[in-house]
Amino acid sequence: MAEAVIGIDVGTSGTRCLLVSRDGALISQATAPHSISHPRPSWSEQEPAQWWQAAIKAIKEALAGSGLGARDILAVGLSGQMHGLVLLDDENQVVRPAILWNDQRTAAECSEIEEGFGRAHLLEVACNPALTGFTAPKIRWVQKSEPDSWRRCAHILLPKDYVRFCLTGEYATDVADASGMLLLDIRKRNYSEELLSFLNIDARLLPGVFESPEITGRVSADAAQATGLAEGTPVVAGAGDQAAAAVGNGIVRGGAICATLGTSGVVFAATDEPLIDSPEGRVHTFCHAVPGRWHVMGVVLAAGGSLQWVRNELAEAEIAAADERGIDVYEVLCDQALAAAPGAEGLIFLPYLTGERSPINDPHARGAWIGLTIRHGKGHLVRAVVEGASFAMRDCLEVLKELGGSVRHVRLSGGGATSGLWRSVQASVYNHPVSLLEVSEGSAYGAALLAMVAGGFYESVEKTCEAVVKTTAEVRPDPAAAAIYDRLFPIYRQCYRQLKDELHKLDALAQG
Ligand code: XUL
Repeated sequence: MAEAVIGIDVGTSGTRCLLVSRDGALISQATAPHSISHPRPSWSEQEPAQWWQAAIKAIKEALAGSGLGARDILAVGLSGQMHGLVLLDDENQVVRPAILWNDQRTAAECSEIEEGFGRAHLLEVACNPALTGFTAPKIRWVQKSEPDSWRRCAHILLPKDYVRFCLTGEYATDVADASGMLLLDIRKRNYSEELLSFLNIDARLLPGVFESPEITGRVSADAAQATGLAEGTPVVAGAGDQAAAAVGNGIVRGGAICATLGTSGVVFAATDEPLIDSPEGRVHTFCHAVPGRWHVMGVVLAAGGSLQWVRNELAEAEIAAADERGIDVYEVLCDQALAAAPGAEGLIFLPYLTGERSPINDPHARGAWIGLTIRHGKGHLVRAVVEGASFAMRDCLEVLKELGGSVRHVRLSGGGATSGLWRSVQASVYNHPVSLLEVSEGSAYGAALLAMVAGGFYESVEKTCEAVVKTTAEVRPDPAAAAIYDRLFPIYRQCYRQLKDELHKLDALAQG
């Protein structure tokens, strides 16, 4: 009998399902999309039913493409977009659309929580400040703004845990994802009674908290019929998408860092203790998906997203050229950027196109090119964007180092690991060799690795990563470029500090 596990990632744009063999090889994969709605300018919502329908489709397709039978799948792991609020009534019907991680409606609730509970005390217990993305402020918003929805609420779940409920009938979550609710005592890896009582949340509404490789339930008869999985297949707790991606990158012990660059950029370090950035709260401190470990991470909202913006808004000619040559437009843009010198002849880009989370926590920050001259062309603009996004990642990395996270290895994943320009700029901006991974399949892959423990393949998450995660090439910093970036980085930081008030005024002006 072939033996495999399944990893499912309930992302924002779609649900992805991977089938992975014991040795970590990818057997098959499928993705089904979700839509997102923005009922007001800074609101973001999704229908949980779509996640389940997408999961059914992706699981069926991946199974069909694998040539394996349902009984060959020994366990299922889940990962997903973090922080989203799902409310179910006492008949398990969804009460209102889920409020997502990138929804910004809760600024007032965050202030109330920090004032009422005490910001310093919150940083001590939940290890983080109240941020608009987190779940607790969303719960408070529903309590205040939709009392009827709150009265009907019998169960609170996170996005991937809704799919777990559909698969197994259990209300459960994992320590890593639950950390982003702002309801955990992060040191104790369980709910804080003090926080629950302050927020008027009855503990019976909340899912049970499990360590990531633990089994939380088994595929039910109904779910087996819907998905093609075998009834009784164990489903492990899994992890929030960032912790799961870190497992997929082998970041399970202190000293290793991963820089994952997609639309957003995440700098993630595993730690043996919770390292808290108090009093500033510039980076997040959460439980890791590895029992007995924690992690710190900085989240840059528009890293690759800044280059996507250039492609969408400024690259008409490059899109046409790429079409003609039958290549990706990013290749054309990166070639242009490579023709400009490191430092783009004194041009800096601030990538705050959607405000910024780490380390400046400023929803009103805005982007800018600073230092333009008549000599600057498209290649300089693009190079400055790639360098600016990498400076934003370094800004997070510096906080991680300040907190005492030692940096022995830096591993790259996401779109930023696939392009030569992004790789070399990151190595030189971080001034650290960066390594690439043999399989770079993100959160769904990490979820599959977590399932391997329950499938009996390996005895722990660490042992799974040792056996399965392999690095390939290493990219070293270019000393000349690194020296230029070392001079530019403090200027990059200072540009935001000097311009902050004016950027806020521009933001207020645009809001009307
Ligand atoms: C992490 C975060 C995002 C979401 C969506 O704090 O907000 O990574 O998990 O992917």
